[in-house]
Amino acid sequence: MARRIAVLGSTGSIGTQTLDVASRHPDKIEVVAIAAGRRAEEALEQAREFGVRFVALGMEPDEFAALGLEAPDGVELSFGPQAVASLTQLPDADVVVNALVGAAGLQASYETLRAGKVLALANKESLVVGGDLIMPLAAQVDDARRAAGLAPAHGPAGALMPIDSEHGAIYQCLIGEEAREVSRLWVTASGGPFRGKKREDLTGITAEQALAHPTWNMGPKITIDSSTLMNKGLEVIEAHHLFNMPYERISVVVQPQSAIHSMVEFTDGSVKAHLGTTDMRIPIQYALSYPERWDAPVAPLDFTQLGHLDFAAPDTETFRCLALARAAGERGGTLPCVMNAANEVAVAAFLAGEGTYLGIAECVEAVMDAHAVQPVESIEQLLEIDAWARLTARKNIR
Ligand SMILES: NC(=O)c1ccc[n+]([C@@H]2O[C@H](COP(=O)([O-])OP(=O)(O)OC[C@H]3O[C@@H](n4cnc5c(N)ncnc54)[C@H](OP(=O)(O)O)[C@@H]3O)[C@@H](O)[C@H]2O)c1
Repeated sequence: MARRIAVLGSTGSIGTQTLDVASRHPDKIEVVAIAAGRRAEEALEQAREFGVRFVALGMEPDEFAALGLEAPDGVELSFGPQAVASLTQLPDADVVVNALVGAAGLQASYETLRAGKVLALANKESLVVGGDLIMPLAAQVDDARRAAGLAPAHGPAGALMPIDSEHGAIYQCLIGEEAREVSRLWVTASGGPFRGKKREDLTGITAEQALAHPTWNMGPKITIDSSTLMNKGLEVIEAHHLFNMPYERISVVVQPQSAIHSMVEFTDGSVKAHLGTTDMRIPIQYALSYPERWDAPVAPLDFTQLGHLDFAAPDTETFRCLALARAAGERGGTLPCVMNAANEVAVAAFLAGEGTYLGIAECVEAVMDAHAVQPVESIEQLLEIDAWARLTARKNIR
């Protein structure tokens, strides 16, 4: 039977690639619902192409009316953030692909697991902000799926499937292994477009320069995060939650070719690495096909052409966001929520030409310093703290 998926963020980089995977496997994947933000016309076109019945848009109904668009026959159109999150509750959907951007994705991740569905997660901010709430829920869904015979008898039960290529890689390296025999996770980083640069070289960097990523083609927010290495910091926190690994046993290594997507080191010193072509459709597809593997439309790595693999330690003096994110993760509680919100505001300001490139880290640090950390208790608490951090960040744009 086909897996019935809801794609949140269908018009974005991950969303469109998810639909591409679905279009190549119509016998295995049925798209039943999509959600997008402002690109209403694209979303309606996708609904037409995939025969999707449920479409939610992040905008208000009058904004949509002003566009003069018409929904295709049979499409149930809804509006606003609640409508987007509500798609996770549809009985028609078995799997929710969360490809929203930013902490706005947290509610959807939480509601997906609360509904007992599989969460295929690209929205790393969900785990950064709410990992303490999401992971226990994922464990419950894992147990329920195993008990109902919906999950493989051995290996991970698959309630929370990471789409991030690094975490998809680690996930695969861990299959068949004992958790107690894992000594370290190695999260690889391309180093971004400013690899090798020093702080003084980064004054006056423009959004256009920062948006030119060397190996991956992604949405604007994650592209800036990749250039500041904040993305890697978010991924360290994501790895901590997903694989229940203490921070001192998660290392970042720069691997400029992006051929190694991440590695796991074991107690006997052996290391398993996941390699492949840099194409997000592979990790997206694996998150949907698990425990199976399906054909992918991607040329495999040609090792005879690859030539060499380079490695280097990240420069956290220059790329301070990585150190700040790690510090937030290590302190834990509500600090990662604050760090993430401040980063979202500072990145948006930089993209809008209102803040500087180096000001992103300064803003994040100032907001983290101003926060009295609390243990994570609820989604409502996180939303309140996220709102405070955004207000404080706006006063700290430099
Ligand atoms: N791109 C990658 O290669 C990659 C790799 C690993 C992880 N990720 C993670 O995946 C997530 C998505 O990244 P992306 O690069 O795909 O971002 P993106 O291209 O900017 O796409 C974001 C999507 O979210 C939608 N959206 C934004 N605000 C919304 C709202 N209020 N309500 C409903 N929909 C909303 C956008 O809709 P509109 O465009 O219609 O406004 C768009 O469809 C991020 O968390 C990122 O860190 C991405």
